[in-house]
Amino acid sequence: MIPFFLIFFQKLMITTKKNVSLITFGFLFFLSILKVEAKPLIRGESLFETNCSVCHLGGNNIIIPEKNLKKETLKENGMDTISAISYQIINGKNGMPGFGGRLTEGEIEEIASYILEKSETNFK
Ligand code: HEC
Repeated sequence: MIPFFLIFFQKLMITTKKNVSLITFGFLFFLSILKVEAKPLIRGESLFETNCSVCHLGGNNIIIPEKNLKKETLKENGMDTISAISYQIINGKNGMPGFGGRLTEGEIEEIASYILEKSETNFK
């Protein structure tokens, strides 16, 4: 993506006034940063779908329904932080298997961020 921007930028430098192309370049650069920022959540989402949604589809819990991933429930159970969620993903609890051996630390954090983000709207 970045090399593409650079070629585009060079073309602009030749064809338009310097100011305009600088603003455009700044804008494109800003967009590319936004794209990088958005990536972890997208990865968290696909990891959640592969590993967790069998039991937690739509933020529910098919085994113990009251232990769902809705905002209020996570808060009541002290599960509303990245570290609490990560701990449970690594070690499991009751009917939930541990994923410590299957997912990396980074992947676990990405899933935890995704859950916190989605719990804000109760997975709507
Ligand atoms: C086989 C079914 C199953 C799978 C797969 C599963 N879980 Fe769970 N999950 C459970 C059960 C059962 C509980 C309730 C555990 C308890 O507190 O007794 C739970 C609880 C949770 C809680 C705490 C909810 C609360 O309100 O206390 C979180 C967070 C959670 N799971 C995240 C995940 C994530 C992330 C994954 C995927 C990496 C995952 N789970 C995969 C069954 C599952």
